[in-house]
Amino acid sequence: MASNKSLLILPGDGIGPEAMTEVRRIVNWMETNRAVKFDVDEDLVGGASIDAHGIPITDEVVEKAQNVDAVLLGAVGGPKWDNLDFSIKPERGLLRLRKDLELYANLRPAICFDALVDASSLKPELVSGLDIMIVRELTGGVYFGEPRGIEDLGNGIRRGINTQVYTTPEIHRVARVAFELAQKRSGRVVSSEKANVMESGVLWREEVIKIHESEFPDVELSHMYADNAAMQLVRAPKQFDVIVTDNLFGDILSDCAAMLTGSLGMLPSASLGDVDAQGRRKALYEPVHGSAPDIAGQNVANPIATILSYAMALRYSFDMPEEADLIEKAVQNVLAGGMRTADIMAEGMAKVSTTTMGDAILRELDKLS
Ligand code: NAI
Ligand code: MG
Repeated sequence: MASNKSLLILPGDGIGPEAMTEVRRIVNWMETNRAVKFDVDEDLVGGASIDAHGIPITDEVVEKAQNVDAVLLGAVGGPKWDNLDFSIKPERGLLRLRKDLELYANLRPAICFDALVDASSLKPELVSGLDIMIVRELTGGVYFGEPRGIEDLGNGIRRGINTQVYTTPEIHRVARVAFELAQKRSGRVVSSEKANVMESGVLWREEVIKIHESEFPDVELSHMYADNAAMQLVRAPKQFDVIVTDNLFGDILSDCAAMLTGSLGMLPSASLGDVDAQGRRKALYEPVHGSAPDIAGQNVANPIATILSYAMALRYSFDMPEEADLIEKAVQNVLAGGMRTADIMAEGMAKVSTTTMGDAILRELDKLS
């Protein structure tokens, strides 16, 4: 299959480059074995960019990111750059990318691999086969609303203020992302807010219903107050497929869902923005974990979160669900075979390096295809 689709790889620093090396091998495997041909470019972000250019991301890299189908990022940050001014720390590179690409929809899947059910904080039968997706609004809501600040009211009394604000276009665009995802998955969306006590929640619910009725009547929509959603996530998580919610509730619900699956080293994510004139949706894929400076350079990091982020890019930016399934299945089988990096190590399993885990996933891809 000929394709002019494009992928920008930004390994970053810390364990980012080690994990990304394993992804590059899978990208090559896909090219050889599945005729998946992208224009693949690689560049610097975070500490790697600071070391080369003195800043955490260059205009040139931002420009590249604006003009590809997907960006795949490793991780950034670490003590080496701790004494730098806040404005040029590694993390600012990632923040600039998120801001300039206006990535308003944060996708956090919680997938429980059968071999890891024991790593979950819940009973195996509650999480076995779990595969849910939380869509968190990322650029609005109480983290950005005005007015904000801390006021002195006199007499030793102070008042802290943050404001929950959403406009209708902000709600519509994130709702559309959730409904489109549901169409590629089970066809079910739960929208979560606190319409019982917050006007912004009432607006959220009304506007999600409008988008549903006018554009996605084929999707099944239901509503759940956010406190109940938190409770249901730990009571019976498999009742959900796609959950769409605001920035604050999404922050909490996605961390809660993350713990259903066990390790940080296993969790991918995506952040999506608008569709451009060429029909490309702005998209950044990255593991949930950071640069893990404590284990960087030791060939012990778990590369699976980054590998699964690449699988998400195949599924959601390149419309290649079969290839995404193949990678997820290969990971599943390797874990079932007893191979573990240190972070997901359990009794009776074989502790392996980053590279050996990558080797095993490639061998499994060979077997599966
Ligand atoms: P972290 O996620 O880097 O590490 C937390 C703990 O989990 C560490 O003990 C680490 O060794 C372990 N860990 C993380 N990923 C792992 C993997 N793939 N395999 C095995 N073990 C893994 O979070 P932390 O320590 O809070 O932050 C370290 C640096 O990363 C900081 O500079 C922080 O700002 C940055 N960071 C960057 C993010 C990003 O690039 N998106 C996200 C979170 C933190
Ligand atoms: Mg959080």
